Amino acid sequence: MNRIHIVSNRLPVSINVENDNIELIPSVGGLATGMRSVYKEYNGKWIGWPGLPNDDLSDELKTNIDEKLKGEDCVSVHLSKEEIDLYYDGFSNRTIWPLFHYFAQHIDYDPKLWEAFVKVNQKFADKALETLEEGDTIWIHDYQLLLVPEMIKSKKPGVTVGFFLHIPFPSFEVFRILPWRKELIQGMLGADLIGFHTFDYQRHFFSCVRRLMGYEISFNEIHIEDRIIIVDSFPMGIDYDKFRDAAIQTFQKPLQEKSKLHRELEKYFLVSPNRKLILSIDRLDYSKGIPNRLQAFAKFLEEYPEFIGKVTLIMLAVPSRGTVEHYINLKREVDELVGNVNGRFGSINYTPVWYFYRSMPFENLIELYSSCDVALVTPVRDGMNLVAKEYVASRTNRTGVIILSEMAGVSKEMGEALMINPNNTGEIAQSIYQALTMPLDEQRERMIYLQDRIKRYDVFKWSSEFVKSLRKVEKLQSSIYAK
Ligand code: ADP
Ligand code: G6P
Repeated sequence: MNRIHIVSNRLPVSINVENDNIELIPSVGGLATGMRSVYKEYNGKWIGWPGLPNDDLSDELKTNIDEKLKGEDCVSVHLSKEEIDLYYDGFSNRTIWPLFHYFAQHIDYDPKLWEAFVKVNQKFADKALETLEEGDTIWIHDYQLLLVPEMIKSKKPGVTVGFFLHIPFPSFEVFRILPWRKELIQGMLGADLIGFHTFDYQRHFFSCVRRLMGYEISFNEIHIEDRIIIVDSFPMGIDYDKFRDAAIQTFQKPLQEKSKLHRELEKYFLVSPNRKLILSIDRLDYSKGIPNRLQAFAKFLEEYPEFIGKVTLIMLAVPSRGTVEHYINLKREVDELVGNVNGRFGSINYTPVWYFYRSMPFENLIELYSSCDVALVTPVRDGMNLVAKEYVASRTNRTGVIILSEMAGVSKEMGEALMINPNNTGEIAQSIYQALTMPLDEQRERMIYLQDRIKRYDVFKWSSEFVKSLRKVEKLQSSIYAK
């Protein structure tokens, strides 16, 4: 089979350097966790940024980093502090991220950011072109690299290029506010296959292509001169068996092998067997609706005081994009809200919110997923949300309830969850009550359907469906070129 190279801003591992020691840390986020499970199948390289500025790295250290990454089949695109500031923190996370998540008030329109975005996208494209050999295919990922498909296609029209967007694609009325809207669409149209998580994002994209570019669209094909571009939706899945098997093992471990967190959790249940745990896990991002969830939890305790002392919210937030202003403000807001809820409802023996602001090893994530009665997933906008799927896969006894925002792509696959509007605090509070009092039979009935569906369309199925479509379009293109 032809090799497929992956190109994304973030590699599956990020580099940390301390005293010239190079440490590989698994990257957090849906793209990295999902693709990490599948990319080796395609025998290609993963081209991306190792996650640190290169200004202060000696040539020797840079070579060592490259060597270390080579061992993971990764190829690094090194970025300077200025490039990180303008391209990554800048146009990617201060312009496109808020625009595509409908946070128009957060968008930065500075043309300097756009210029850097073009330059750095070219850098990724050049690295991909350098890596490509005859017959190889390229699969580009996410909003940081929207211009790369066209940059590759214009140099090597014969190469098959796939592109997948891991975040929402906004409606035309929102997308049009960006000064560089046409350039972004043009960049994406360099791909032969464009994938989105849901049909709604695909529909929005078609509407932008039609209205901004005037191209003809028939069914799921865009026709441009002698090219046909296929656009489709592929809801990303998780490595279901990995989560399920890890959850089974967690409960089989003898006491001395259990993690400190797990022992603490067991102690907690031993002391208070009737207490309930609610779980929330995300990167600390304003799209995730973290303040909404804390406000709703407070409202729940206010409306149902009989639960004070009997239910705890475990809130895990991974530090993310901490140099971008709106993320700094969010951190402050969340710290304050956690303080308020704990101050208002807590006592010597009871802390309503256990807040962890850090990344956690896989083992601990599994322990939390499998120990918590309810998962509270309340993004105000989310391309997919893999956390909801990971919770489902880890529930080996088939109990547990998910409270899920209708604004997450995953809601299309999880009709059995308790669906909420993240801006409706009262509705979330009500759903928390419903989840905590739901009979076990009903929990199982819902969970069985969820597990069946999430298991069937896992990350392997997702990537194989994408690659199958890529091969189809490859054939279509070669028959066009042969004419
Ligand atoms: P996003 O891609 O926007 O971050 P997703 O829910 O799709 O959101 O994916 C988040 C991924 O990051 C999941 O695979 C989840 O397990 C992982 N993750 C989230 N929080 C943590 C944490 N505190 N520690 C380790 N991994 C985390
Ligand atoms: C989301 C994006 C990914 C990104 C991840 C983590 O999942 O879709 O492209 O890698 O968040 O964000 P970061 O900025 O740390 O790469």
